[in-house]
Amino acid sequence: MVFGSVSPWEVTGPVDYDRLIEEFGTQRLDENLVKELESLAGESHYMLRRKIYYSHRDLDLVLKDFREGRGFFLYTGRGPSGPMHIGHMIPFHFTQWLQKRFKVNVYIQLTDDEKFLEEKRRLSLEETRRWSYENALDIIAVGFDPDRTFIFQDTEYIRNIYPAVLKVAKKVNLSTARAVFGFSLSTNIGLILFPAIQIVPTFFERKRCLIPAAIDQDPYWRVQRDIAESLGYKKAAAIHSKFIPPLTGFQGKMSSSAPESAIYLSDPPDVVRTKVMKYAFSGGQPTAELHRKLGGNPEIDVPFQWLYMFLEEDDSEVERIREEYRSGRMLTGELKEILIKKVNEYLEIHRQRREEAKELINTFKYDGKLAKEMWERVID
Ligand code: TYM
Repeated sequence: MVFGSVSPWEVTGPVDYDRLIEEFGTQRLDENLVKELESLAGESHYMLRRKIYYSHRDLDLVLKDFREGRGFFLYTGRGPSGPMHIGHMIPFHFTQWLQKRFKVNVYIQLTDDEKFLEEKRRLSLEETRRWSYENALDIIAVGFDPDRTFIFQDTEYIRNIYPAVLKVAKKVNLSTARAVFGFSLSTNIGLILFPAIQIVPTFFERKRCLIPAAIDQDPYWRVQRDIAESLGYKKAAAIHSKFIPPLTGFQGKMSSSAPESAIYLSDPPDVVRTKVMKYAFSGGQPTAELHRKLGGNPEIDVPFQWLYMFLEEDDSEVERIREEYRSGRMLTGELKEILIKKVNEYLEIHRQRREEAKELINTFKYDGKLAKEMWERVID
């Protein structure tokens, strides 16, 4: 099989997750480390048990810092290029869980600058700013602690981080940036500066920074780790997840430019039903008769994978579904019905919480405890 490529701006082809560990030079998240994390958290998490989070950098040092009283902080983000889909929610739910269990600060960056600069998107700055607002509501709906969370939008907060951006930018030469991010002579120079802006929040505290995200964001942390210590900060730690596959099958990640490949948080129930029924890639057999005889393949079945990776937290239920499907007792249509129900239940709760988030947005962005502190500081 020919595998595709993964970078912060593009994920193509089937993703070979083991190869990425080698290519990016990260570490596999092994059972012992997961046990230690869960024991300090006082709770297990299904995304850890199921190896959805499967790779890391220095998570062992984060846990050591925590054990020894030095603490740590969390940082993650979103590129506001349009409506958020189900896959984008994975890092936010996991970050929120970590915040709740470890009682630590969370910084969430909205890169309205980045999404404006990416030429293929053809978005105006007004549009990426508007999406920043819309996406912030989706993120707040996840349930972050208002006293310990700061959501900031680059074009607004830049004044406070510009001195640090300059210090980072001066440390990274074009040849490194080109090797890591694949810049070419036709890349606009805004995008060439941008990595410095995504790196700076790892310096918001002197403590170690832990970044939960899918593995596509790792190139930034590689650069950060090369320069952090020379600027008097710690190397960032990261915990990397796999991608929820597109509805249409295991090629790349869900994309805003291919609406049939994703379920958006704004999709109403009938749209969810149509998308799943029409587009969800199935690991079932061509006919019901053959399916009953030969059984389905849950490993390549997107409805099953969505349940496993995200929507069905209950281990015994997810294993029951796997077994029923593999044995052929459960048909593709039945599995799709389970997914539709789960997605619509999730979205229904999300819609309510998103409404409530409208009252909270100023707290997270400007006047909550952490937000206020951050607006009073200049990072340098
Ligand atoms: P963006 O908006 O592309 O993605 C937001 C977050 O979602 C993750 N992600 C996925 N996770 C699981 N399954 C998927 N199908 C899937 N698609 C995307 C991404 O890895 C990311 O964590 N430049 C960033 C914004 C950013 C950021 C950060 C992200 C700024 N600072 C720090 C992570 C950490 C971006 O455009 O993300």
